[in-house]
Amino acid sequence: MSLEHMVIPKHVAVILDGNGRWARRRGVPRAMGHKAGCETLEKMVRIASDTGIEYFTVYGFSTENWKRSTEEVGALMQLFRYYMVRLLKIASANNVRVRMIGDKRRFAPDIIKGIDDLVEGTKDNTGMTFVIAINYGGRDEIIRAAKKLVKDYQASGADADGIDEAAFASYLDTADIPDPDLMIRTSGEFRLSNYLLWQLAYAEFYVTDCLWPDFNKEELEKAIAAYNKRERRFGGRV
Ligand code: IPE
Ligand code: IPE
Ligand code: MG
Repeated sequence: MSLEHMVIPKHVAVILDGNGRWARRRGVPRAMGHKAGCETLEKMVRIASDTGIEYFTVYGFSTENWKRSTEEVGALMQLFRYYMVRLLKIASANNVRVRMIGDKRRFAPDIIKGIDDLVEGTKDNTGMTFVIAINYGGRDEIIRAAKKLVKDYQASGADADGIDEAAFASYLDTADIPDPDLMIRTSGEFRLSNYLLWQLAYAEFYVTDCLWPDFNKEELEKAIAAYNKRERRFGGRV
């Protein structure tokens, strides 16, 4: 498929789902599915950047995912440790800047350091921004933003009537990042699972049955082609 003459969405947000199903189909442990998912993610960062996407946001671990078995959460944490270091190399080689959204405070100190090193080590890159959502939940983000905003307003005595959408959004983890244009969910589920609740207000949704570990350049191009057939509306009159 050629993307010639197509509009490349500026911000693509992905719910990478289906690692568990991918593993089950092969009769291997779920952790193997997560490892395969990390390998796909690594490839997709480079592919998204080559495609001309400016912001690529992926949902890697939700605030609800802590409810999974100790074994699975442990396996995911091990993968985070390993892939934070690899991502630093990949991002640096591709001029990609990395940002993290979510509440990192719940992670072990060495994982927090890995996140900080990744963000700090790539902050001057000028290419695609790769946003990694880990221990992320849309409701949690909104609550944390509200708390910071209230504290600031109380401290400064500013008038709460001055709070508008832009002022509120500046307290979200995604401050300075434009809203997604296209949201892709792999593995066929039609739900948001607490992803970017504020930011996805007008994004186009694309759901594919493809399981995340099988996702590739062709699948991304199919999503972009579908996006190009959409008639975007933002609630205005047509
Ligand atoms: C997505 O794959 C990765 C995470 C949520 C960490 P899943 O683990 O949710 O895979 P399924 O939905 O069980 O197939
Ligand atoms: C959403 O997937 C979270 C991530 C992809 C990180 P889940 O697999 O956790 O979502 P549900 O449980 O199917 O809604
Ligand atoms: Mg899932």
